[in-house]
Amino acid sequence: MSKPSEKVADEIARLRDQIHYHNHLYHTLDQPELSDAEFDAVFRRLQGLESEHPQFADENSPTRRVGGAPLTAFTQVAHERPMLSLDNAFGAEDMVDFERRIKTRLDSQEPVSFACEPKIDGVAISLLYEGGRLVRAATRGDGATGENITENARTISAVPLNLMGDEYPYRLEVRGEAYMSLSGFAEMNLQAEAEGEKVFANPRNATAGSLRQLDSRLTAKRPLTMFCYSVGVVEGGTLPEEHSAILEALRRWGFRTNPLTEVVVGVDACNDYFARLQEIRPTLDYEIDGCVFKVNNIAQQVTLGFLTRTPRWAIAHKFPAEEGVTRLLDVEFQVGRTGAITPVARLEPIKLAGVTISNATLHNMDEVSRLGLAVGDMVKIQRAGDVIPKIVGVLPELRDTDSREVALPAVCPACGSGIVQPEGEVIARCSSGLSCSAQRKESIRHFASRLALDIEGLGDKLVEQLVDEGLIETTGDLFRLTDEPLVALPRMGRKSVSNLLAAIEDSKQTTLTRFIYALGIAEVGEATARNLAMHFGDLGPLRDASVESLQEVDDVGPIVAEKIASFFGQKNNQIVMDQLIALGVQWEPEIVETVPGPDLTGEKVVLTGTLRTLTRNDAKSQLQTLGAKVSGSVSSKTSFVVAGDAAGSKLTKAQELGVRVLSEQELIDLLEGG
Ligand code: IVH
Repeated sequence: MSKPSEKVADEIARLRDQIHYHNHLYHTLDQPELSDAEFDAVFRRLQGLESEHPQFADENSPTRRVGGAPLTAFTQVAHERPMLSLDNAFGAEDMVDFERRIKTRLDSQEPVSFACEPKIDGVAISLLYEGGRLVRAATRGDGATGENITENARTISAVPLNLMGDEYPYRLEVRGEAYMSLSGFAEMNLQAEAEGEKVFANPRNATAGSLRQLDSRLTAKRPLTMFCYSVGVVEGGTLPEEHSAILEALRRWGFRTNPLTEVVVGVDACNDYFARLQEIRPTLDYEIDGCVFKVNNIAQQVTLGFLTRTPRWAIAHKFPAEEGVTRLLDVEFQVGRTGAITPVARLEPIKLAGVTISNATLHNMDEVSRLGLAVGDMVKIQRAGDVIPKIVGVLPELRDTDSREVALPAVCPACGSGIVQPEGEVIARCSSGLSCSAQRKESIRHFASRLALDIEGLGDKLVEQLVDEGLIETTGDLFRLTDEPLVALPRMGRKSVSNLLAAIEDSKQTTLTRFIYALGIAEVGEATARNLAMHFGDLGPLRDASVESLQEVDDVGPIVAEKIASFFGQKNNQIVMDQLIALGVQWEPEIVETVPGPDLTGEKVVLTGTLRTLTRNDAKSQLQTLGAKVSGSVSSKTSFVVAGDAAGSKLTKAQELGVRVLSEQELIDLLEGG
């Protein structure tokens, strides 16, 4: 007997509350109580109930964080209260002037309390809540009008969908900065690079680009988060009388606020905060470009009021730019795992925002010519957060007469073999594959790295030594190492040798994802390795997969599929894999997620008219899960059309073309395996 409907509704409500609660603990407070597996179990239970009982759908359900159907365009949102910008201070004296102006306007010589906050380098957004539910999110735009990005904002875990507690105003607009952590950004770009996709220049651009995705399912995959720092509309309730207390209230209602916020008295203390923040800036996992100082007392803010586009009660004190000029001492060439030859700039050491910089990557020779670099030049370098420093330009007026052109070496700097650069490609490569010692070292480093076989203690230096001493040539040789030759190496005691051998032994028991990633297939990063493992379940079917079947794997397009198939097609790679397995590398087969229902791979389906039982979105996502492509227009290639009530021109077209037409009930029967 099925459960009565109120019971189901109760359970759904309870699960949603639980998930909101744990989401908040994890993403906002950084204090998870559940393990990922426990959380997933609760989440899947809710997903199951929601799909069985579509009548209880709710757009603010935590299951909607994965994004929904793509939009065709963003609509405009007129901000009820303009989103202002801030006046800038460029030094301690500007701050003294700021405080003097405030005291004059307030007609008081009393010390002023300021709330001090980091200025987050992201994108300002506004979140509107009614009755505690998120009803709209918007970008700042020009301050008067922004874009409606509600669907995208819903996918950001730090954006509460329903507020906690109950003393919040009925209508409440909360503003803050959406941003990407530096680590999330780096990981996203690494993955994009490995998969041949476009990389973003910096976390700010990546944030802006992610928020402006018409397909919120793409936004959901981006590591976005936010800090809230102010309120806009407040109706049907009141807020505390100090800015800092408002931030505390926001925190209680579930918003993420910056933990470095402080209240200080007087401008000297503001300048001191600025110095402290500048000091810790390199340790933060997000980019800040200065501090924001706000008069803490709201009544005083009201008295001070606004200029045209900036409040008189707040100011941004920006950090000086992290840019410097130094000499390019040399350009060296490094050889990567796939033989790519990368120019690296050696610089006269220079200190930028507390960090000494002596190297910068140049990516490839196109970059060298674009910059017009010559060895000996004075170059302008820039550093943003923990992003690798870059050369952004040359100062030609400072060029010496003895500056030297940067040229790609004629032979590989590691092994002396020829260098090849196919027509139209920017990357030059060493031609000798794994017989090049640099490529061997890199491929062994990759094999042992954290996301691959994770061999503890086998660091870069040791790999270098092992290859140079001739103790290993291939990854398989790692499993043939014995203690005697290792103990003979400089700086290797018996204890470290036995630890290393134990770690190598342990690494044999691995997972299929790690093993695939460890193989170092071009374009296959950790995420793709995981998708391949989940899809094929074991190495056998993956080795035999055709280019076409590889493209059925999530995020694998024709180019990557080609690279994978070509890797598995090469005799020497087959030998390497067989050897590793013979030497004892093993894994449990991955559990392949199968969905009940027919296999609709490759079928093209069109939905038209109003569906009564299923929603359009549910029908679409179920069809997609089974492998079908759901499209908007009927053609002779369409496999079938599902016609709901009041179907119009698409139904007529299907009938004209002789395309099969299913009723909603027939679709339901089909989805259930009929
Ligand atoms: S307060 C009227 N606080 O800086 C007050 N803004 O140049 C308006 N920002 O558009 C904003 N961190 O995007 C405030 N802690 C912070 C901030 C912050 C970053 C950005 C925000 C705003 C811009 C103003």
